[in-house]
Amino acid sequence: MNLLILSCGTRDKVVEYFKEAFGDAGRVVCTDCSPYAPALYEADAHYLVPRITAPEYLDVICDICKKESITGVLSLIDPELSLLAAHSETFAALGVTIVGSDYERCERTLNKWELYCWMQEHGYPCAKTYRTIADFRGALERKEIGFPVFIKPMKGSASIQIARADDFETAAFLFAHGDQMIIQEFMEGQEIGADVYIDLISKEVVSIFTKKKLVMRAGETDKAVSFIDERLFEQIRKFVEESGFEGQIDIDLFERDGVYYFSEVNPRFGGGYPHAYACGVDHMTLIRNNLSGIANPVRIGGYQTDKVMMKYSEMRIVDARGTM
Ligand SMILES: Nc1ncnc2c1ncn2[C@@H]1O[C@H](COP(=O)(O)OP(=O)(O)O)[C@@H](O)[C@H]1O
Ligand SMILES: [Mg+2]
Repeated sequence: MNLLILSCGTRDKVVEYFKEAFGDAGRVVCTDCSPYAPALYEADAHYLVPRITAPEYLDVICDICKKESITGVLSLIDPELSLLAAHSETFAALGVTIVGSDYERCERTLNKWELYCWMQEHGYPCAKTYRTIADFRGALERKEIGFPVFIKPMKGSASIQIARADDFETAAFLFAHGDQMIIQEFMEGQEIGADVYIDLISKEVVSIFTKKKLVMRAGETDKAVSFIDERLFEQIRKFVEESGFEGQIDIDLFERDGVYYFSEVNPRFGGGYPHAYACGVDHMTLIRNNLSGIANPVRIGGYQTDKVMMKYSEMRIVDARGTM
C-alpha cells in the first residue's frame, strides 16, 4: 500500500503524518513542479513533474503510479482536484484509488456561484450572493441587502482579489475590474473551519473537527481554537452526506446570531489540518484503512477542545545538488 501526494508544496506536516500512519505498511511518494517545495524532501521518494496544465502531465503521474506501485493518490491544490476526478477510470485501471470527490463535486466547489445555488436549493443558510450588478442593484432597491458587501472572484482561491465595499461606486468598480466576480452580503461574526472525512467505503461522515478562527493571514488561518458543538456537527454531517463528497474535505463557515452559514468547501486537506491532528483527529489512519479495504467506524468529536493553534515559520535546508 503506497500513497502518492501530488503538488505537496509546503505541506510538510501532511507528509510527515502520512509517513507516521503508514509506518512499515507502505511508502509515501510526493510530487511537485518546483524543486523548492520543501515537503518533497519529507517523502520516502519524490519526483519533479511538469505543471498540471502540461499535456504530458497525466502520463507522467501514471508512470509514477506504475513504478512506485501506488494504491492511493490525492492532491493538495484546488485546480488539480477536477483533473484527477476526470481521469478516475485511468487511475482505477492502474489499481489506484483517488482519495477525493468525483468530478461534479470538485467543479461545484471551484465555482462559488454554483455552490451558492446548490446550497440555496437545498435549504442551507449562506450569505446572499449576486453575480450581476443588475441583480445586486435590484436587491439593494428591495432592501434585501445593504452595505458593506464582500466582492470576490466566482472561481477564486487563496483570498486573491477579495475585498470589502462600503458603497455602490466601490462595489461596481471592483466588480467591473475583476475576473467573473460575485457580490456577497458581508458576513460579520465568528469564522469557523471544519476538517471532515467521509469514508471511501461506507460513504458515511466518520470524522469532523471544528475550530474557531482567531486570526487570518494571507488567506490562511493563522491562529484558531478547537471547539465542539453537536448542533454544528449535525448540520455538517447532513450537508456533506446530501452533497455527496468523499474523502477529506475542508469547510469554511460563519456563525452569526446562533446560525451557522456555509461559506466555502475545498475537497482536499486544508492548510489548517495539522490543528486537527494535534487534537487527536488522525485522518491519515482513516485513509490508510480505506486503502486497505477497511471501512472506518463513525467517531465524530471526542477530541481535545480549547486547544489553540498558532502558526510559525519553519525552514528546510537541502543540498542544492539534491534539488536539480
Ligand atoms: N461574505 C463574506 N463576508 C465577509 N468575509 C468573507 C466573505 N466571504 C469570504 N470572506 C473572507 O474572505 C476569505 C476568503 O474567501 P473564500 O470565499 O474562503 O475564498 P478563497 O477561495 O479565496 O479561500 C474567507 O476566509 C473570509 O475571511
Ligand atoms: Mg476559503
